[in-house]
Amino acid sequence: MRTTELTRRSLLLSGAAFGISMLASCSTTEPSSKNTPSAPTPSKQADHSSQPQGDLYGADVYNTQEVADELVHIDENVQSLDGKPKRVLITGSTAGAGQLAAAYLLKRGHAVVAHARNPQRAADVRRDLPGLEEVVTGDLRHLDETRALAEQINALGEFDVIVHNAGEYRLSDPEILNANSLSPYLLTALVTPPKQLSYLSPNQHQSGGLRLDEIRSGGGISYPDSKLHMAMIGIAVARLRPESQVNVVNPGWIPTMMALQDGPYSRDDLRAGYMTQVWLAEGIEPGSDITGTYLFHQKIDSRVNDLVHDEDAQDQLLAAYAEQTGVTLS
Ligand SMILES: NC(=O)c1ccc[n+]([C@@H]2O[C@H](COP(=O)([O-])OP(=O)(O)OC[C@H]3O[C@@H](n4cnc5c(N)ncnc54)[C@H](OP(=O)(O)O)[C@@H]3O)[C@@H](O)[C@H]2O)c1
Repeated sequence: MRTTELTRRSLLLSGAAFGISMLASCSTTEPSSKNTPSAPTPSKQADHSSQPQGDLYGADVYNTQEVADELVHIDENVQSLDGKPKRVLITGSTAGAGQLAAAYLLKRGHAVVAHARNPQRAADVRRDLPGLEEVVTGDLRHLDETRALAEQINALGEFDVIVHNAGEYRLSDPEILNANSLSPYLLTALVTPPKQLSYLSPNQHQSGGLRLDEIRSGGGISYPDSKLHMAMIGIAVARLRPESQVNVVNPGWIPTMMALQDGPYSRDDLRAGYMTQVWLAEGIEPGSDITGTYLFHQKIDSRVNDLVHDEDAQDQLLAAYAEQTGVTLS
C-alpha cells in the first residue's frame, strides 16, 4: 500500500482527536504526528499503467463526500467561458481545493495541467478530470522529486498561472519542511516564471516562526511555520517580480480530506475556498488584477503575521533557502 493511502486511512481513523489538534493549531500548537520520513523514491515521468481507485472523485478514498459532491456540481453546472483561455498549473490538484479549482477552470475552457504525487494519484486525476492537458508527478516530501517536477513543468513551456496549492498537515516535521516550505520555494525558483502565481496559506500561519536555523540544517518545522513561509514566499515574489501578479490565498477552514479530521469543526464555505484561486486565474472580474496581497474569499485579509510583509525577514528566509538548496530565487 502506498504511503498516500496509509496517510488517508490514518486521517479517517483519527478524526475526532485530530479535530481537536487542528483547533489548537489555530493558536500555537503544531501537529503532534512524528512519522519517520519514508525513503525517497526515484522521480517518475507520467505513467499511465495505474488503475484509478474508488468511485469517480474518490469519495472516502482521497476526497470527502463534500468535495466529491462539489465536483459533481461543477461538472453539471459550470459553463465554458467565451474568453481568452489561460494555461494553468495547480500543484496538489488530485484532491480537495486544488482539484476543485482545476475542475472549475477546465469546465470554463482553460488549459489545465494537474500535479499528482505519484502515478497512482495521476491515474485517479486523469479519470476524475478528463480533458487535462497533462499530469506532472512528484512527491514534494522528497526534494529530488521536486527538482525533477520543475524540469517536467519547464518541458511543457510557459504557463499563465501557477497555483502553489499542494500542502500536507500530518507529517513528521522534516517532511513538513520539505513538502510545504522548501518545495514551493524550489518550484518558484526553478520553474519559468508565469504571469501569475498564487500560494495557499491558512490563518494558522499567524502562529508560525521564521525558523532559519531549521531551514539551514534541514531540521523540522511545524505546519504553521511552513504556512508562514508559504505566505512570505508569495509576498517576497510579488516584490522581486513586479511584472508578475502574485498573491497569497487563505481558503478558509474547508471540508476537504485534510480537514476531515476537523469533523464538525470545519466551518468555512467549500466553494468560497477555491473560488479566489479561480477568480485570480481568470482575471476577468473587477479587482481580480490585485497583487502582493493576502486574500480571504476575494478580499484583502488583515489577519496576517507581521513577518509576511517584513522585507528584511523575507530576504533572510530566501537566503536560508538558497543556502539549503543551492538555488537562488530571482
Ligand atoms: N482544508 C482546509 O481547511 C485548509 C485550510 C487552510 C489552508 N489549506 C491549504 O490548502 C491547500 C489544499 O489543501 P486541501 O484542504 O485541499 O487538502 P487535501 O484535500 O488534502 O489536498 C491536498 C492536495 O495536495 C497534494 N499533496 C499533499 N502532499 C503532497 C506531496 N507531498 N506531494 C505532492 N502532492 C501533495 C495532495 O495529494 P494526495 O491527494 O495524493 O494526498 C492533494 O492533491 C493546502 O496547502 C492546505 O495547507 C487547507
